Amino acid sequence: MISSVEMMLDRWKHHQDKEIDVSEEFRLLTLEVISRTAFGSSYLKGKKIFELKLSVLANQNAFKLRFPGISKFWKTADEKEAEKLVTGIWDSVVEMTKKIEDKLLTKEADGFGTDFLGSLVNAYHDTDEKKRISIEELVDECKTFYIAGQETSSTMLGWTLLLLAIHTDWQEAARKEVIDSFGNKNPHLDGIVKLKTMTMIINESLRLYRPVISMTRKVEREVQLGKLILPMTLHVANMALHHDTQIWGEDVHLF
Ligand code: HEM
Repeated sequence: MISSVEMMLDRWKHHQDKEIDVSEEFRLLTLEVISRTAFGSSYLKGKKIFELKLSVLANQNAFKLRFPGISKFWKTADEKEAEKLVTGIWDSVVEMTKKIEDKLLTKEADGFGTDFLGSLVNAYHDTDEKKRISIEELVDECKTFYIAGQETSSTMLGWTLLLLAIHTDWQEAARKEVIDSFGNKNPHLDGIVKLKTMTMIINESLRLYRPVISMTRKVEREVQLGKLILPMTLHVANMALHHDTQIWGEDVHLF
């Protein structure tokens, strides 16, 4: 993670006094971090998969009206592009899986590895049939990991930076806390978890501009909970909860 941030800050050095599109920068940063964590490789190596316009398309497509029957044969440009990206992701994950398997065969490695993909390949080769996962499940897990992790973290970073740019008092407080904790050294996990001001800033940014606006829960039947009757499919509108004056007070919309 530190090397990915260093790469980004290096790029920023060449932009002094010029505008930086931080939203694009954070998109690249999160792709890079997830890619390194999941595949132990840098973003550039796994680039094909991680051009995840797919998450945007998936969101767009999820809210589109479709005509039963017709939508099977007639697809929108977005749906066609999403399908193409899905095939691309499939090919890339299978190719990377094969590389990991080959390394074991040629004895370049003594196992499938301990990163995210390595653990999945391990499960794919599990000798216990009940625990073994299929190649479809393996690819699906990779997609979920990326889609769930990338948009969320990059939008969170973007909003947090914007809020800090507006509220310079909090920017100063955050800077002081980080310098007091780490000086000029790289941050480490034990220290990061103790950063109170930074945690407050990130939580407040997530409250105001949450990357996930609602969550769905499905149960087998309608349930009565006290006075409430909960339907089988329940949409938890966390966006509404985050902006409820009864919970947060009249200044709910303020940072
Ligand atoms: C600010 C950053 C993030 C936010 C706000 C966030 C938010 C959420 C929420 C609300 C859910 C629950 C969705 C539901 O239950 O309906 C979820 C699930 C999940 N998140 Fe995150 N997430 C963030 C970062 C990440 C990262 C960095 C990763 C991994 C790289 C990740 C991977 C996942 C996975 C795998 C799931 C489960 C998805 C599933 O099984 O359907 N998330 N996230």
